[in-house]
Amino acid sequence: MPTINEILQTMDYGPAPESTKEAQAWLDQHERRFGLFIDNAWTPAADTFASVNPADGKELAQVSQATEQDIDRAVEAARRAQPAWVALGGHGRARVMYSLARLLQKHARLFAVIETLDNGKTIRETRDADLPLAARHFYHHAGWAQLQSEEFADYRAVGVVGQIVPWNFPLLMLAWKIAPALAAGNTVVFKPAEFTSLSALLFAEICVQAGVPAGVVNIVTGDGRVGEALVKHPGIDKLAFTGSTEVGRLIRQATAGSGKKLSLELGGKSPFIVFEDADLDAAVEGLVDSIWFNQGQVCCAGSRLLVQESVEQRFLAKLRARMDNLRLGSPTDKSMDIGALVDPIQRQRIEGLVEAARLEGCTIYQPACELPANGSWFPPTLITGASTSAGIAQTEVFGPVLVAMSFRTPVEAVQLANNTVYGLAACVWSESISLALDVAPQIKAGVVWINTANQFDAACGFGGYRESGFGREGGKEGMFEYMTPLSEDARPAAPVVEAKGKVKASESNDPFAIDRTAKLYIGGKQARPDGAYSRAINGANGAFLADVGEGNRKDIRNAVEAAHKASGWAKATSHNRAQVLYYIAENLAVRAEEFAARLAAMTGAKDPHKEVQASIERLFYYAAWADKYDGLAHQPPMHGITVALNEPVGVIGIICPNEAPLLGFISLVAPALALGNRVVVVPSEAHPLAATDLYQVLDTSDLPGGALNIVTGSADELAKTLASHSDVDAVWRHDGSAEGCAEVERLSAGSLKRTWVGGAKGRDWYDTKQAGGRAVLGHASQVKNVWIPYGV
Ligand code: NAI
Repeated sequence: MPTINEILQTMDYGPAPESTKEAQAWLDQHERRFGLFIDNAWTPAADTFASVNPADGKELAQVSQATEQDIDRAVEAARRAQPAWVALGGHGRARVMYSLARLLQKHARLFAVIETLDNGKTIRETRDADLPLAARHFYHHAGWAQLQSEEFADYRAVGVVGQIVPWNFPLLMLAWKIAPALAAGNTVVFKPAEFTSLSALLFAEICVQAGVPAGVVNIVTGDGRVGEALVKHPGIDKLAFTGSTEVGRLIRQATAGSGKKLSLELGGKSPFIVFEDADLDAAVEGLVDSIWFNQGQVCCAGSRLLVQESVEQRFLAKLRARMDNLRLGSPTDKSMDIGALVDPIQRQRIEGLVEAARLEGCTIYQPACELPANGSWFPPTLITGASTSAGIAQTEVFGPVLVAMSFRTPVEAVQLANNTVYGLAACVWSESISLALDVAPQIKAGVVWINTANQFDAACGFGGYRESGFGREGGKEGMFEYMTPLSEDARPAAPVVEAKGKVKASESNDPFAIDRTAKLYIGGKQARPDGAYSRAINGANGAFLADVGEGNRKDIRNAVEAAHKASGWAKATSHNRAQVLYYIAENLAVRAEEFAARLAAMTGAKDPHKEVQASIERLFYYAAWADKYDGLAHQPPMHGITVALNEPVGVIGIICPNEAPLLGFISLVAPALALGNRVVVVPSEAHPLAATDLYQVLDTSDLPGGALNIVTGSADELAKTLASHSDVDAVWRHDGSAEGCAEVERLSAGSLKRTWVGGAKGRDWYDTKQAGGRAVLGHASQVKNVWIPYGV
């Protein structure tokens, strides 16, 4: 049978232009000037800038730069509209969203042409990918609106959502953002990218036709300054951003301490791994979709080819031949594979990166193709001979540029795949299901495609690890981003402090009676604090109880290192992890009296036994969850399945509350351990002895050394170190310090680690709804979607 490439070589194409008549008429109807869409009405166009067709450099329309006052009005409109939008109920919202989906389909061609004109991507892609997927998003999420009261009974809408998207998939990103937000009962203020506002403005029109109530969807246009105003607006409850890692970082910093919920979908440098037993011709086609779809301006583009050495030359020869047949030209021509880049700025950036690779000695392959005279164009490019640390192998190019490297063994393939600060997506090509399914979980990425590439669907979550951001879009997992657990609303305004009883003075002050200096617990062993300082802990009656080690930066670094070494814990079976948690509970129960006495002495708690019993129960609770927090098998419209796996986050730094020092500690540490995370814990600064007393319990409970590390000392200092440590994947802070929590969020922006902070509010640690449940398990895990087509 001839390969696709052989068939292509025998074919000749004439031009097949798509008519732009309707699109031009729509622009004319608006006199090619657009205001903002606020409260279902258009503002007069003001302070406008040009939206240009990147394929010929000609202006399409003038679009308004929103002001801060415009943002105020849009947020106010959204706020006013939100209660009624919730009150409409799941079925009411589902009907409106169904109508939006229908209208998107009805006007699909107009949307596709507008998108192609504004963005430069080919009509084949807007018509066959962007539009069907956008419509599917509204259909799918109309379903979540309908089922909300049943499937998300313990959650409510977040409120008013600010959404900022880039220019690479203008309408599709709009659908990804607006559909789940509306389904959950939120109202939105949406900002498209300044290069590509037109499809969002057309969408505003169909919102009116679909009966979306005034204020539910507001569309404000403009550049980064508009985005910034939205980010900082106090009336926004949640921000959802897709774009560059650089801006994602700024948004994380700007929202620190604001209490705004945040999801970030950022850049990537995704590996495309080809094993020697792969169907090489299919893999070449997958690679074409992966890196030349949308001119490579795709966050999850497979921009790093990793091919097994034994087939490297054969594969690259096939790839070059296929590149020779890619057709580049007018995006409205239906037979084009590659369109224009969004803007000359992008072309300059890409040229710069490719030139730098050339200067570093890399080999550049570009097929001989004629680039149109006007507009922004770049040929498909293959770079070989780059070292793994070269700029071109590490930087997100965001263009049609592929860098190829080779590997010898599966172990090396995984190492190379993970050799990046990003973690968005990966492709694995192999005919061995055992090999592919063994490799997929080892790759640090939110999506893994096996023997396929760039597949998306509304039913399947999409989103990153590490500097590719956090949060998921699509699927059930994506809905949680737009909801708040009702238990959060039940949290008391301040920490819950227990009733105090009379505490007897400490029994002895004889310094030689016992050694009362608790050390740190690192790598399964007690360790002296690096600084050789300790701090005195006094009891509720003011008497000295014991000294604890004063941990410092070095101790945290040691603890993080020990946690990384304990990677076996993540691979332990969930049954095994459950057994260890039960065992800790059992050993704690044996020493219940001792712990109760310690708690009474430290905190003066009237009924310390209650806290010990609750801690034992909480250990049982998370032991029970360990082997029951299953993933999902999604059913996208593909012949195959998409498996959503709940993976551990990695190494989590935890700062514990001062109230309920034992129960608070256990309530945070147990869910993290249950799901296979390793933890570095700072126990209650005021009452750390319940945690240091646990060392012996842990030593007899089969917990592998390094899975749980305990560093006592100043919560502020140690939290800062954890939040700025690049090898810590998440930080949880629950000690009631609002400023401390804000700082954790600010510092986390460095490596874009995930955070879960309690702020100044309290939490009733005895209440399983507030201190347990799926919401907590969600913080302890991240979803990886593995796409497995079959029979193809
Ligand atoms: P960008 O991240 O600057 O822009 C994305 C969106 O954020 C736009 O709507 C923009 O107006 C807005 N924005 C810009 N500055 C902002 C701020 N301070 N606060 C709030 N919103 C702000 O991306 P840009 O400049 O369009 O592209 C630059 C590079 O970023 C690309 O070359 C590519 O490497 C990467 N990128 C990655 C994307 C992805 O999907 N992962 C998408 C777009 C760009």
